[in-house]
Amino acid sequence: MINAPSRAESDVLCAQPLISKLYTSRASRRFGPADLAPMLKMSRAKNWLRSLTGILLYQDGRFLHYLEGPADGVDERMDRIRVDPRHSHIVMLAEQQPAARLFPRWTMASTSLPEAERTVPGLRAVFAGLDSSIDTAATTAAVARLAAWFAEQHR
Ligand SMILES: Cc1cc2nc3c(=O)[nH]c(=O)nc-3n(C[C@H](O)[C@H](O)[C@H](O)COP(=O)(O)O)c2cc1C
Repeated sequence: MINAPSRAESDVLCAQPLISKLYTSRASRRFGPADLAPMLKMSRAKNWLRSLTGILLYQDGRFLHYLEGPADGVDERMDRIRVDPRHSHIVMLAEQQPAARLFPRWTMASTSLPEAERTVPGLRAVFAGLDSSIDTAATTAAVARLAAWFAEQHR
Protein backbone atom coordinates (compact mmCIF):
# COMPACT_ATOMS: atom_id res chain seq x y z
CA MET A 1 0.00 0.00 0.00
CA ILE A 2 1.36 3.43 -0.91
CA ASN A 3 1.06 5.84 1.96
CA ALA A 4 0.68 9.45 1.00
CA PRO A 5 2.69 11.72 3.28
CA SER A 6 1.90 15.37 3.85
CA ARG A 7 -1.62 14.94 2.53
CA ALA A 8 -3.07 17.49 4.93
CA GLU A 9 -0.30 19.88 3.94
CA SER A 10 -1.00 19.53 0.24
CA ASP A 11 -4.71 20.08 0.89
CA VAL A 12 -3.90 23.37 2.54
CA LEU A 13 -1.67 24.39 -0.37
CA CYS A 14 -4.16 23.23 -2.96
CA ALA A 15 -6.57 25.98 -3.98
CA GLN A 16 -9.11 23.53 -5.37
CA PRO A 17 -12.03 22.32 -3.32
CA LEU A 18 -11.81 18.81 -1.92
CA ILE A 19 -14.48 16.62 -3.48
CA SER A 20 -15.43 12.98 -3.09
CA LYS A 21 -17.29 10.52 -5.24
CA LEU A 22 -18.77 7.21 -4.22
CA TYR A 23 -19.94 4.86 -6.93
CA THR A 24 -20.69 1.23 -7.47
CA SER A 25 -20.22 -0.78 -10.66
CA ARG A 26 -20.39 -4.30 -12.01
CA ALA A 27 -17.18 -6.07 -12.87
CA SER A 28 -17.08 -7.35 -16.45
CA ARG A 29 -15.76 -10.66 -15.17
CA ARG A 30 -14.84 -12.27 -11.89
CA PHE A 31 -11.86 -10.62 -10.23
CA GLY A 32 -9.43 -12.61 -8.12
CA PRO A 33 -6.51 -11.23 -6.11
CA ALA A 34 -4.27 -11.72 -9.16
CA ASP A 35 -6.54 -9.47 -11.23
CA LEU A 36 -7.02 -6.86 -8.53
CA ALA A 37 -3.36 -6.50 -7.54
CA PRO A 38 -2.08 -4.91 -10.78
CA MET A 39 -5.11 -2.63 -10.95
CA LEU A 40 -4.51 -1.45 -7.39
CA LYS A 41 -0.83 -0.93 -8.09
CA MET A 42 -1.42 1.18 -11.18
CA SER A 43 -4.27 3.14 -9.62
CA ARG A 44 -2.22 3.92 -6.53
CA ALA A 45 0.63 5.31 -8.61
CA LYS A 46 -1.72 7.47 -10.66
CA ASN A 47 -3.70 8.63 -7.64
CA TRP A 48 -0.50 9.51 -5.82
CA LEU A 49 0.48 11.89 -8.62
CA ARG A 50 -2.88 13.66 -8.31
CA SER A 51 -3.19 13.70 -4.51
CA LEU A 52 -6.16 11.34 -4.69
CA THR A 53 -7.05 9.01 -1.87
CA GLY A 54 -9.87 6.58 -1.10
CA ILE A 55 -10.83 2.93 -0.97
CA LEU A 56 -11.83 0.27 -3.49
CA LEU A 57 -13.89 -2.69 -2.37
CA TYR A 58 -14.71 -5.72 -4.48
CA GLN A 59 -16.90 -8.68 -3.81
CA ASP A 60 -18.90 -11.09 -5.95
CA GLY A 61 -18.65 -9.09 -9.14
CA ARG A 62 -19.36 -5.71 -7.53
CA PHE A 63 -17.09 -2.72 -6.99
CA LEU A 64 -17.66 -0.01 -4.43
CA HIS A 65 -15.19 2.85 -4.86
CA TYR A 66 -14.80 5.98 -2.75
CA LEU A 67 -12.45 8.52 -4.35
CA GLU A 68 -11.50 11.90 -2.84
CA GLY A 69 -9.14 14.73 -3.66
CA PRO A 70 -8.85 18.00 -5.60
CA ALA A 71 -11.84 18.42 -7.91
CA ASP A 72 -9.87 18.43 -11.17
CA GLY A 73 -7.99 15.26 -10.27
CA VAL A 74 -11.08 13.36 -9.20
CA ASP A 75 -13.02 14.40 -12.32
CA GLU A 76 -10.15 13.55 -14.65
CA ARG A 77 -9.71 10.09 -13.13
CA MET A 78 -13.46 9.46 -13.12
CA ASP A 79 -13.50 10.20 -16.86
CA ARG A 80 -10.92 7.41 -17.31
CA ILE A 81 -12.60 5.04 -14.89
CA ARG A 82 -16.00 5.45 -16.59
CA VAL A 83 -14.69 4.06 -19.88
CA ASP A 84 -12.68 1.21 -18.36
CA PRO A 85 -13.96 -2.03 -19.94
CA ARG A 86 -13.21 -3.99 -16.77
CA HIS A 87 -16.50 -2.77 -15.37
CA SER A 88 -19.88 -1.35 -16.41
CA HIS A 89 -23.22 -0.20 -14.97
CA ILE A 90 -21.61 2.58 -12.94
CA VAL A 91 -24.07 4.13 -10.50
CA MET A 92 -22.95 7.32 -8.75
CA LEU A 93 -24.10 7.11 -5.13
CA ALA A 94 -22.75 10.30 -3.63
CA GLU A 95 -20.81 13.39 -4.70
CA GLN A 96 -19.77 15.63 -1.86
CA GLN A 97 -17.44 18.42 -0.78
CA PRO A 98 -16.19 16.97 2.50
CA ALA A 99 -14.44 19.16 5.04
CA ALA A 100 -11.67 16.58 5.35
CA ARG A 101 -10.54 13.35 3.73
CA LEU A 102 -11.78 10.01 5.01
CA PHE A 103 -8.67 8.14 3.79
CA PRO A 104 -5.88 10.74 4.06
CA ARG A 105 -3.10 8.13 4.10
CA TRP A 106 -4.24 5.77 1.35
CA THR A 107 -4.07 6.40 -2.37
CA MET A 108 -6.29 3.37 -2.83
CA ALA A 109 -7.02 1.40 0.28
CA SER A 110 -8.41 -2.09 -0.11
CA THR A 111 -9.39 -4.75 2.35
CA SER A 112 -10.77 -8.21 2.60
CA LEU A 113 -14.46 -7.53 2.66
CA PRO A 114 -15.45 -10.46 4.89
CA GLU A 115 -13.07 -9.13 7.54
CA ALA A 116 -14.38 -5.57 7.25
CA GLU A 117 -17.98 -6.79 7.28
CA ARG A 118 -17.40 -8.55 10.57
CA THR A 119 -16.39 -5.28 12.20
CA VAL A 120 -18.11 -2.45 10.35
CA PRO A 121 -21.82 -2.23 11.18
CA GLY A 122 -24.07 -2.12 8.15
CA LEU A 123 -21.41 -2.88 5.54
CA ARG A 124 -22.72 -6.35 4.80
CA ALA A 125 -26.24 -5.06 4.16
CA VAL A 126 -24.87 -2.22 2.03
CA PHE A 127 -22.96 -4.59 -0.22
CA ALA A 128 -25.86 -7.02 -0.47
CA GLY A 129 -28.10 -4.14 -1.58
CA LEU A 130 -25.84 -2.77 -4.28
CA ASP A 131 -27.44 -4.97 -6.94
CA SER A 132 -31.00 -4.01 -6.16
CA SER A 133 -32.09 -1.47 -3.56
CA ILE A 134 -29.26 0.97 -2.95
CA ASP A 135 -29.58 2.97 0.25
CA THR A 136 -27.29 5.92 -0.46
CA ALA A 137 -27.31 7.35 3.06
CA ALA A 138 -26.54 3.96 4.61
CA THR A 139 -23.78 3.35 2.08
CA THR A 140 -22.15 6.73 2.74
CA ALA A 141 -22.35 6.17 6.49
CA ALA A 142 -20.86 2.68 6.13
CA VAL A 143 -17.91 4.07 4.15
CA ALA A 144 -17.27 6.61 6.91
CA ARG A 145 -17.32 3.81 9.50
CA LEU A 146 -15.06 1.77 7.24
CA ALA A 147 -12.59 4.67 7.15
CA ALA A 148 -12.52 4.87 10.95
CA TRP A 149 -12.03 1.08 11.21
CA PHE A 150 -9.33 1.18 8.55
CA ALA A 151 -7.43 3.97 10.28
CA GLU A 152 -7.64 2.04 13.55
CA GLN A 153 -6.29 -1.10 11.85
CA HIS A 154 -3.29 0.73 10.39
CA ARG A 155 -2.29 3.03 13.23
C1 LIG B 1 -13.35 -0.17 -10.44
C2 LIG B 1 -12.17 0.57 -10.96
C3 LIG B 1 -11.59 1.57 -10.20
C4 LIG B 1 -10.49 2.27 -10.67
N1 LIG B 1 -9.95 3.25 -9.91
C5 LIG B 1 -8.90 3.97 -10.38
C6 LIG B 1 -8.34 5.03 -9.62
O1 LIG B 1 -8.75 5.33 -8.49
N2 LIG B 1 -7.31 5.71 -10.17
C7 LIG B 1 -6.80 5.43 -11.40
O2 LIG B 1 -5.87 6.10 -11.84
N3 LIG B 1 -7.29 4.41 -12.12
C8 LIG B 1 -8.33 3.68 -11.65
N4 LIG B 1 -8.84 2.65 -12.39
C9 LIG B 1 -8.18 2.34 -13.69
C10 LIG B 1 -8.60 3.34 -14.75
O3 LIG B 1 -9.89 3.00 -15.21
C11 LIG B 1 -7.63 3.36 -15.93
O4 LIG B 1 -7.60 2.12 -16.57
C12 LIG B 1 -6.21 3.65 -15.54
O5 LIG B 1 -6.14 4.67 -14.59
C13 LIG B 1 -5.37 4.05 -16.78
O6 LIG B 1 -5.56 5.39 -17.02
P1 LIG B 1 -4.75 6.17 -18.17
O7 LIG B 1 -5.49 5.89 -19.44
O8 LIG B 1 -4.78 7.59 -17.77
O9 LIG B 1 -3.35 5.59 -18.20
C14 LIG B 1 -9.94 1.94 -11.95
C15 LIG B 1 -10.53 0.93 -12.70
C16 LIG B 1 -11.62 0.24 -12.22
C17 LIG B 1 -12.24 -0.85 -13.05
